[in-house]
Amino acid sequence: PKVLKVALLGCGTVGSQVARILLEDADALAARAGARLTLAGIAVRNPDATRDVELPRELFTADAEGLIDGADLVIELMGGIEPARTLILRAVRNGASVVTGNKALLAQEGPALFEEADKNNAELSFEAAVAGAIPIIRPIRESLSGDRITRVLGIVNGTTNYILDQMDSTGAAFADALAEAQRLGYAEADPTADVEGHDAAAKAALLATLAFHTPVSLDDVRCQGIAQVTAEDIAAAKDSGLVIKLLAIAELVSVGEGGTEGRGGEGVSVRVHPTLLPREHPLSAVRGAFNAVFVEAENAGELMFYGAGAGGRPTASAVMGDLVSTARRVVAGAPGRTDTATRVLPIVGVDAVTTSY
Ligand code: NDP
Ligand code: HSE
Repeated sequence: PKVLKVALLGCGTVGSQVARILLEDADALAARAGARLTLAGIAVRNPDATRDVELPRELFTADAEGLIDGADLVIELMGGIEPARTLILRAVRNGASVVTGNKALLAQEGPALFEEADKNNAELSFEAAVAGAIPIIRPIRESLSGDRITRVLGIVNGTTNYILDQMDSTGAAFADALAEAQRLGYAEADPTADVEGHDAAAKAALLATLAFHTPVSLDDVRCQGIAQVTAEDIAAAKDSGLVIKLLAIAELVSVGEGGTEGRGGEGVSVRVHPTLLPREHPLSAVRGAFNAVFVEAENAGELMFYGAGAGGRPTASAVMGDLVSTARRVVAGAPGRTDTATRVLPIVGVDAVTTSY
């Protein structure tokens, strides 16, 4: 049977679970992928560190480049911009397809990375980058590619939802709830990205790019996090039958005459901010680190996607889905193209954000 060598970059919360699944479920994965997915090695900062998941010592290396150069498939789960960017470029230039969960990198450098992957007949897939275990990238990119998506709205950051939920339901202090979210593996290495809304903004940019077929980067997203939300705000909302949630909203808007291009047409508005919701709103029922995303499309109508939005095992599920799908196409000799943006729509700023739904 065919063998595909897999290089894993990063063995933290998510990477360690991916390594575990690759080793534990090797036979089932081989049957589904049409090739044995052999874990060739794991690149980390400190190969000698003791890890929560027990994995063979000989797999660990600090030589990410050397590992990539011998690989057919590369999984990037280091996070951050560098060295992740350079390593992904190295992999696709070698012709290796890449799976990543790195929304921060893709929302900033996505177009250049996708172009390089396409040029080298390699795939760059990223289901894990948005909403953890929830399949949302593939439904938007593939299942809804024959429809016209008009809006994507939801809770896309598990850490902030966990914090707001703990403050609302148990009266926990912000700092304690954040520390617990970090302990549970929900938060980014630097949790400022979660708390300030930048992680949700990166995800919103990726969702908007795919939904509206136009480039949207992190800088295009108007963003306000939850750092200013106080216990008093949450209690006051509760007294009024409301709940505060951090929402990401991406929508097509009309650009009237005299708009960005001096003529009527479509534009895109993308924003992240705390929002007051009635307690009976479906998004109010999203507890802990769960996420939920509504997609509105002209023919499909309203769709809702719900599930675990963060954490090692749920996110590893999304990574493994991408890996098996990519392996199938590599075995067939036909890696997919990324084709994220096929037009350029103006980004429309919003003067006043909607703070309640
Ligand atoms: P962690 O911080 O837990 O793990 C990062 C891993 O990468 C560690 O093993 C670390 O090595 C390694 N690493 C970091 N920098 C370097 C470097 N310069 N050279 C070599 N190795 C390096 O991150 P997570 O597992 O939480 O997240 C990984 C990615 O997945 C991020 O992009 C994140 O945004 C994304 N993601 C995370 C989710 C989650 O719930 N945690 C959910 C969805 C996406 P060492 O162990 O030696 O320090
Ligand atoms: N830090 C992110 C979150 C991880 O809390 O949602 C999942 O992308």
